[in-house]
Amino acid sequence: MLNVICGDSMIRIKGLKKDYGKVHALKGIDLTLKGRITAIIGRNGAGKTTLMRILSTQLMPTEGTAEIDGHDVIKDTGWLRKTIVSIPQEASPISVLTPYEQIKLYLIAKGMDARSASERTKRALKVMSMSDAANMPADELSGGMKRKVFVAMALAYNSAITFMDEPTTGLDPISRLEVWSAIKKLNGSVIITTHYMEEAQDLADDVVMVESGKVLEHGSVKDLLSKFNGKIRIESTSRRGAYNVGGLGISYVGVGKADAYLKKGYTARQITLEDLFIVNGVYLES
Ligand SMILES: Nc1ncnc2c1ncn2[C@@H]1O[C@H](COP(=O)(O)OP(=O)(O)OP(=O)(O)O)[C@@H](O)[C@H]1O
Ligand SMILES: [Mg+2]
Repeated sequence: MLNVICGDSMIRIKGLKKDYGKVHALKGIDLTLKGRITAIIGRNGAGKTTLMRILSTQLMPTEGTAEIDGHDVIKDTGWLRKTIVSIPQEASPISVLTPYEQIKLYLIAKGMDARSASERTKRALKVMSMSDAANMPADELSGGMKRKVFVAMALAYNSAITFMDEPTTGLDPISRLEVWSAIKKLNGSVIITTHYMEEAQDLADDVVMVESGKVLEHGSVKDLLSKFNGKIRIESTSRRGAYNVGGLGISYVGVGKADAYLKKGYTARQITLEDLFIVNGVYLES
């Protein structure tokens, strides 16, 4: 079998830039990723997919380097493509193939023998609660089930490094939990992008926040949230705050001061990763 699980992989990114014509999608990314599960968060157009595509050897950078376990994403594409699994943001299964066929063929193309491929495919589809849909042509599957085919594929291969670009977008709450559970079952390193802060918070050891092609924050959830020094968030639709976002006035105050704000009609909220966007000015109204 080709896939060898080697625990946590090390990804080193230096001075990575990507221009699409005049659009500077990545403006110089320097990062070392060592976590088992890393979540890349950031607004639409921040550069998350561009970064994922470069790391998974699908896109050439304009400048800079990136290597995974010492393998350069430009020079060692052969090794990397054999090893990694990458689920693109817009992936859709081939319409005439069933989930079973699609996954089994993928495993065989990666070098697995047909028997193991078949067994692993069935097991992964079962874990994703897709056994009933295993033999339906993909164009008869719902949008969420199509997404789940790719998660089952990643689970079946169980690579040392798996990239998943928004694996839970558009999924119902139970399917989302199944995907989380599948991600946790993967033995290797997993890099996901997500717009769901609770997903990043619950799932990832390491969080990278990207904005306008640059890394704004990087660290464990605990470290990132500890930047708020135990403060809480208070917000009000009718009052202005230190930050004004989408009609909400938001401030961060010590627990001792919270009561006074609550009496004035503010609502208190726990700090989450969303607050990193606010204090970094990413959501601010001009
Ligand atoms: N093929 C392309 N040609 C031109 N511009 C592109 C191309 N792909 C992406 N871009 C631009 O590069 C920037 C980064 O896009 P990217 O898809 O990496 O963002 P993202 O963070 O994944 O966004 P989303 O959350 O919406 O998926 C955006 O300004 C986007 O319009
Ligand atoms: Mg994207």
